[in-house]
Parts: sequence; C-alpha cells; structure tokens
Amino acid sequence: MKVLIIGSGGREHTLAWKISKSPKVDKIYCAPGNAGIAEYAECVPIGAMELEKLADFAEEKKVGLTVIGMDDPLVAGIVDVFEARGLRVFGPRKNAAILEGSKAFSKDLMKKYRIPTAAYETFEEAEKALAYLETAPMPVVLKADGLALGKGVLICETLSEAREGVKSIMTDKKFGEAGNRMVVEEFLTGREVSVLSFVDGDTIRIMTSAQDHKRAKDNDEGLNTGGMGTFSPSPFYTEEVDAFCREHIYQATVDAMKAEGRPFKGVIFFGLMLTEKGPRVLEYNARFGDPEAQVVLPRMENDMVDVMEACIDGRLKDIELKFEDNAAACVVLASDGYPLAYEKGKKITGLDTVKAREEDGYYVFHAGTRFENGSIVTNGGRVLGVTAVGKNLREARAKAYEAAEWVNFSNKYMRRDIGKAIEEA
Ligand code: AMP
Ligand code: GLY
Repeated sequence: MKVLIIGSGGREHTLAWKISKSPKVDKIYCAPGNAGIAEYAECVPIGAMELEKLADFAEEKKVGLTVIGMDDPLVAGIVDVFEARGLRVFGPRKNAAILEGSKAFSKDLMKKYRIPTAAYETFEEAEKALAYLETAPMPVVLKADGLALGKGVLICETLSEAREGVKSIMTDKKFGEAGNRMVVEEFLTGREVSVLSFVDGDTIRIMTSAQDHKRAKDNDEGLNTGGMGTFSPSPFYTEEVDAFCREHIYQATVDAMKAEGRPFKGVIFFGLMLTEKGPRVLEYNARFGDPEAQVVLPRMENDMVDVMEACIDGRLKDIELKFEDNAAACVVLASDGYPLAYEKGKKITGLDTVKAREEDGYYVFHAGTRFENGSIVTNGGRVLGVTAVGKNLREARAKAYEAAEWVNFSNKYMRRDIGKAIEEA
C-alpha cells in the first residue's frame, strides 16, 4: 500500500518512521515533509493547506491511506475533500475537527454533557468581556476561539493584564480571525498530562500518557512554545486518574460528539489538568501531539496502519493497543531565540551518530530541517527532537540528554530540565 502523510514537523517524522515499519506499506509520500522525513518518504512540494492539490496527488499515485498530521487542514475540511473523492483518509471530518478548531464549541460540549472542565464564559464583544472581568477572580485565562498555533491562550495575573489581553485578542486581532470570539476561563492549578487516543466514531482506545514542557526556559519560565520536550508515561497519571477519566471524560466525549451528529474518527488528544478536585479537560486536539508523538509512538507495539484502518472502518473494538513496559523522553533542540526571532540555515552535525544507535533506543526526529548543498541545515525554531527509550524514565531521560550532545549546530538551544519532575515525584 502507498501512504501519504500531510505535514512537515517532528510529529510527521515520527509517524513516517512508525508507518514505515508496517509490512503493509511499500511506499510513503509526505507533503511537504522535511530533511529527516525524506529518509522514509518521498517528499512532495505541496502545502498542507492545498487540499484539492493533495487529493489530486493521492488520486494520481493511487494512495491507499492518507494520514493528516496537522490541525489546520483538518479544521479546514481536508478529510471531507478526500472522502468526496472516495479516498481513504485518517482523521476527523470538518464537523468533528471543530473539537479543536473552536474552543467555544468544545467548552459548550463539555458543559452540555457534564464533562469536567474549568468554568468559563464565551464572549463575542470586547465590551462584554471587559465588564465580566471586573468581577472575575484572578488569575484568569483568556482563549481566542480559533486555531492560533498554540499561542492564543493568555494567563492573566491581574485585571489590568486581562484588560490588555482582551484588547490584543478581540480588538487588535493579534491572533487574526481566531479572536472573533473569546473564552474566559477559570485558572486551574495542578500537573498537566497529555493523553492521546484512537477513535472510530463509537469506540475509543487510550494510548499511554505523556507530559509536555511548553515554556521556553528551565523551571517553566519564558514564553509559551509549541513544546520543548516530553516524556512518557507520566508518573502522575495513576490508575486512579485513569479510572476517573475513563468514567467521566473519554467515552463521554466520543458519545457527545456522536449525539451532536459529529462522529469523531481519528486521534483525540486530551489535555488534562490533574487538580485537587480531580482531572479536568484543559483542551482537546484533533490529532497527535507534537512532541507527544515522539515519545508515545516509539513505545507502541501495534502496526500503525492496522489501527488507523480499524478507525476508518469502525472496527476499533477489535483492536487492543499495546505499549512496551518502558519509558521515553524527547528533548527538543531549538534555534536560540525561539519562539521569537532566531536564525536559520545552520549546518547540523552528528545526526548519523544518533541514527546508528537506533537499536539501542536512540532516535532523532526532525522538526525544522532542510537540505542545502548536500548538507542538512536548520529550518525552524524547533529543529530536532532527540528521543530515547529506556527501562524507566530516569534512564530514558539520561539517554536523551546524552544523545542531545552528539548533535550540534551553531545556535543550538535546549531546556535542561525535561522530565526533571519525575525525579522529584
Ligand atoms: P491550550 O492551548 O488550551 O493547551 O493552552 C495552552 C496552555 O495554557 C496549557 O497547556 C496550559 O498550560 C495553560 N492553560 C490552558 N487553560 C488553562 C486553565 N484553565 N488554567 C490554567 N492553565 C491553563
Ligand atoms: N504538544 C501540544 C500540542 O501538540 O498541541
């Protein structure tokens, strides 16, 4: 079978690597891909938002399965475009991808179906939001309704910060159209855990847990980023937490989407906050996490194509997911300055040293790289995700940091405390 993967980051590299292990697959394409993905896939220069062109390509090459890695094309309806042409595609339709595409939709869904989440109000006018904030407890969380590259969430400590926040989201439209509506949410405290799942419209199968590190600097200081590193499993995701989420969150979400006439097929990512009062949903995503995929997929034993096809065909109840009884850690190597200004085009060395140790559980997944005159150079804020699998989190973390030293480029930057919380747990 020929497989087409849509996207160009570390998540898509991890998907390409995992899908390449399936005996069912004899050719992988990736649009648009990157220099690391090129090892497993033929990269084709079609943008992830060129929906019709992508479908033309899949038709022409007789692609048997298309996997959508990224949120934007899902929210724009790429699955509907492919299905209308009779092409097999893994991911939610537009009317289900709204679970990620609109925070107001997902909050209303949770409220209606009593799925535990932070208290909130939705606003379409800045004046009303400002009036509400006058009496709201601080800190408060402001969220632009639509997709904003993970940046549309502002945590405001004071009323004056919150007023500024409303101005930047709703009046100045700092996140564009995403700010036409805004959710104002209760601030929750606790440990944050990411749980990915496969869903076929009815049945949900939970993958192993993971934890992301979103801030740019050690000790969770600095700006929010797409994610600076992850580990899996999370020691805070206990059996008790799992039981609560199974009873109140996971199946309830799938059933709610079905009841709304928006059956969800694909991956649901549950962003959870483990509060003193129990787990609460912070957000839903309609696709694998990045860099969560980099630590979850290397531990997954199933054939990825089998599981994705079962989701498409509504046969997920016949599948049991299996994860190795070990742990993984991913340290993101970024360009110094990210998420603000940074330089690109720096030559990367040492990639082969990591590649040669794959059998020992060392991996390097490319997030922002490209070829230049026969070399691989940096091409983004997040450049690489150096991942290692070990018998436990401590070992995985030590190995990931060991391998992070094998790879170099002139403006390399990384957090030094990925997974450090586990040593304190
Ligand atoms: P989101 O894009 O919804 O994942 O939000 C980005 C980050 O903001 C999350 O990963 C949390 O760290 C934080 N966040 C979102 N909602 C809340 C909340 N209600 N309380 C505290 N932190 C939050
Ligand atoms: N790592 C968080 C996300 O993929 O949105």
